[in-house]
Amino acid sequence: MNRISKQFNEQGYLVLENFNTAASCDALMQRGKELASAYNFDGHPAVFQTSNQEETSNDYFLNSGNNISFFFEKDSFDENGQLKTDLFHSMNKIGHALHDLDPVFNAFSRSPQMKKLSEELDLDQYVIIQSMLILKHARVGGVVDIHQDATFLYTEPGSCIGFWFALEDATVENGCLWAKPGDHQTSLRTWFRRKANGGAETVVLNNEPFSMEGMIPLEVKKGTCIVLHGLLPHCSMPNTSGRSRQAYAIHTIDRRATYPAENWLHRNMDELKGF
Ligand code: FE2
Repeated sequence: MNRISKQFNEQGYLVLENFNTAASCDALMQRGKELASAYNFDGHPAVFQTSNQEETSNDYFLNSGNNISFFFEKDSFDENGQLKTDLFHSMNKIGHALHDLDPVFNAFSRSPQMKKLSEELDLDQYVIIQSMLILKHARVGGVVDIHQDATFLYTEPGSCIGFWFALEDATVENGCLWAKPGDHQTSLRTWFRRKANGGAETVVLNNEPFSMEGMIPLEVKKGTCIVLHGLLPHCSMPNTSGRSRQAYAIHTIDRRATYPAENWLHRNMDELKGF
């Protein structure tokens, strides 16, 4: 086993500095802004929040697997349902097929350094199933509660691995990731899945509570890639600073694993590609 995969297996995550150039980070953020500006907002927002996801799992959310959809911060609307600020700065994230549908996101997701990393981690059978541009705007970017990514991308056996790219410096003040080294050696707590009659639900698989104890802030520079094991509990705090904390994340699964039809995210599985 090489050094990188040994460290990943022991720690449950990897922090790879200088993975992407500042110019490629800037180009991705610029493309995200262009996509957001072109979005034809019809006044029926899809809000994204991890703490109350059943209620916000409308059809727009459940249908976002094969397209580019836009999700808003929950506090971005006033009591009359009007945006408090401009469209872009009201958004929480954009997803979930950016990597397959947009050439700029595709090139970033399947860069030469990603190909090399996937080889080092022995992921030749893996496919990119989901992508999201996380905006985490200054002062409005909300909390992301402690969760495991495998909750949202359940496979049998478990295989989910996430790649989180800092497009800007991430600090405690602007809401960097938090995780505890080695904490992936645990069970999957919940499965977020579709209900038979529409909507989605969170099924408890193991009710052992999450804890912040031992979690450390992963403060990283722009251009850093953080690899996250699907079982590693992680979270981020609200952005209380005057600087945004944009990040781009892709999630991958083993194509040989079973992907249940109950999973919230529906993709055309035959079309999924690797790195
Ligand atoms: Fe996550």
